[in-house]
Amino acid sequence: GTTLGASAAEKGRYFGAAVSAGKLGDSTYVGILNREFNAITPENEMKWDATEPSQGRFSYTGADRIVSHAQANGHKVRGHTLAWHSQEPSWAKPMEGSALRSAMVNHITNVATYFRGKVFAWDVVNEAFADGGSGGRRDSNLQRTGNDWIEVAFRTARAADPGAKLCYNDYNTDGINAKSTGIYNMVRDFKSRGVPIDCVGFQSHLGTTVPGDYQANLQRFADLGVDVQITELDIASGSNQANNYATVVKACLAVARCTGITVWGIRDSDSWRTGENPLLFTSSGAKKAAYTSTLNALNAG
Ligand code: G3I
Repeated sequence: GTTLGASAAEKGRYFGAAVSAGKLGDSTYVGILNREFNAITPENEMKWDATEPSQGRFSYTGADRIVSHAQANGHKVRGHTLAWHSQEPSWAKPMEGSALRSAMVNHITNVATYFRGKVFAWDVVNEAFADGGSGGRRDSNLQRTGNDWIEVAFRTARAADPGAKLCYNDYNTDGINAKSTGIYNMVRDFKSRGVPIDCVGFQSHLGTTVPGDYQANLQRFADLGVDVQITELDIASGSNQANNYATVVKACLAVARCTGITVWGIRDSDSWRTGENPLLFTSSGAKKAAYTSTLNALNAG
């Protein structure tokens, strides 16, 4: 193939980008998006603060713009995210206990129902595990509602949109470490008890090296019977950036259940990692060496 999306499709995968609704009027941005990608993740527009700015009043303006753009161009949409301790609306932040649990369930039901049939996969729960060596859950108001909040979130999403793939998504889980092993144990437990989980997202906000066990980590999750996806890829700039992108692509292609890759923005100037230039296109929209190595890796083999 001659584009990221077409080349990924030849390998039975998608290649997506995080997109901001506010940039859909930027012709350079939209030109690259429509030419190169075949999947979209809304960068912020489906989050709790965006979709339920006051309790029980739902707002889908930004998300709808992205979904409409995706549908008009034949792009798949990855939903991000139904339950996350960060970017809670201000009304939810002080909540706790059964009131917060009910608010979470109501939120998931409303959002997943609204987008039913339009989103191929949801990040049902995002970033619920702690950094460091504990392998345990992160403290948050959601966690304090009870350890079962994650499985309740997944069961609620399944009931609202039975056709969507339901994913758990996190960062610093790209190699085999205490955090990724904690998530691995949760997924194994969910599979054994019939909690509906279909996929695990590895954000892959990477520094100057890719963990040596990156592919092995994807594979061990796939071996539990879930799909795996690279969901928010960006890689520190420097002499290894192009090689590191290729390493990530090759790892995904080597794992049969790695179904797609999403980069977390289009041009370097679109990245949340301000000044780090971690993406595939320059701020003026030119292809970087990392673009070429990514495309070549998708086309290899
Ligand atoms: O929309 C408001 C705008 O009205 C206001 O004027 C402006 C002033 O600061 O803020 C705008 O909101 C910002 C929002 O992005 C939209 O641009 C928030 O402040 C800012 O915090 C928010 O950052 C996002 C961040 O998630 C929030 O945690 C980034 O764009 C987004 O790339 C980032 O994405 C996360 C993933 O969801 C989860 N994994 C990590 C990843 C990187 O942090």
